[in-house]
Amino acid sequence: MTRPALLRSVVTGTGSALPVRRVSNAELAEQVDTTDAWIVERTGIRFRHIAGDGETTATLAADASRAALAAAGIDATEIDLIVLATATPDQTFPSSATKVQALLGIPDCVAFDVAAVCSGFLYAVQVADSMLRTGIHKRALVIGAETFSRILDWEDRATCVLFGDGAGAIVLEGQQSDDRPTARGILATRLHADGRHNDLLYVDGGPSTTGTVGKLRMKGREVFRHAVVNLAAVLEETLELAGLTSADVDWVVPHQANSRILDATARKLGLPAEKVVVTVDQHANTSAASVPLALDVAVRDGRIKPGQLVVLEAMGGGFTWGAAVLRY
Ligand code: UT7
Repeated sequence: MTRPALLRSVVTGTGSALPVRRVSNAELAEQVDTTDAWIVERTGIRFRHIAGDGETTATLAADASRAALAAAGIDATEIDLIVLATATPDQTFPSSATKVQALLGIPDCVAFDVAAVCSGFLYAVQVADSMLRTGIHKRALVIGAETFSRILDWEDRATCVLFGDGAGAIVLEGQQSDDRPTARGILATRLHADGRHNDLLYVDGGPSTTGTVGKLRMKGREVFRHAVVNLAAVLEETLELAGLTSADVDWVVPHQANSRILDATARKLGLPAEKVVVTVDQHANTSAASVPLALDVAVRDGRIKPGQLVVLEAMGGGFTWGAAVLRY
């Protein structure tokens, strides 16, 4: 029987970038009333990178993109779509995606930002996947990039120890495929939002309210509770959409907010901890950058191999949450 031909979005390259300055828990403990022991026990975080002068969301995004383009073996000018997920753009407008376009020297393409905070990369993946599968666009850069250090209240120990800066990027290419679950590419995506929870995780400013950028505020314990429930549910839902189960999964690449959330979600799905990619200890929570950063780490250290089934998932402010199932 001949299988119907269809277009799939295939990951052909990954890349990431981190600011030069790496800050330990001990260094933070000199500035706020905290300890290395509390941070490690409650979150799993040991280090985070903090952007310095000249390092911005767009410059980190461009560096991550250059690495992804090199891994894909293509020139930046072959990109016709840039979707950049961020909650910390260089400017309110224009989009940081257009800044990345200029930094990469791409004379013309479609470029825009998406705002879904920590699940922004999952939103960007679904948007880019939909656009590639129309055939109108051929090759996309899908990026998650953040400089949360610039919106943290450095006197609030309950939040400032949790976040870091960084960027991750993938090259996503529309390729002829078929409906077999063994085919390479994105097999299913699923997104959700529930705007009733704005007050649990938000920034207390914005262009249209205060005319300022604002600082991050979070009721951590409540966010934690929602995260475990929502992430396990959306992972099951997305695997089912792809006609697969958790037994088929080779790797989970989760949003890196807290190692206890990663453990609890894996347990709920019956997935062994060895299949979960963990970078929260090294990067802390980099919001939209965390999933593509962790993906790039696991691709480059040889854990994720071509043909393996990889599940991405994230949850964040809004709330927004989502997952993607892909064969790498
Ligand atoms: O990326 C978007 C999604 N975000 C998340 O998923 C974050 C979800 N939440 C979490 O990861 C956790 O809730 C936190 C790590 C934020 C907090 O952990 P927790 O176990 O829920 O702690 P808590 O907020 O209930 O605070 C426990 C205690 C409090 O003291 P009391 O009231 O029990 O005396 C806090 O004041 O820990 C205290 N505390 C700290 N102590 C030392 C809070 N922050 C710190 C700190 N150092 N940095």
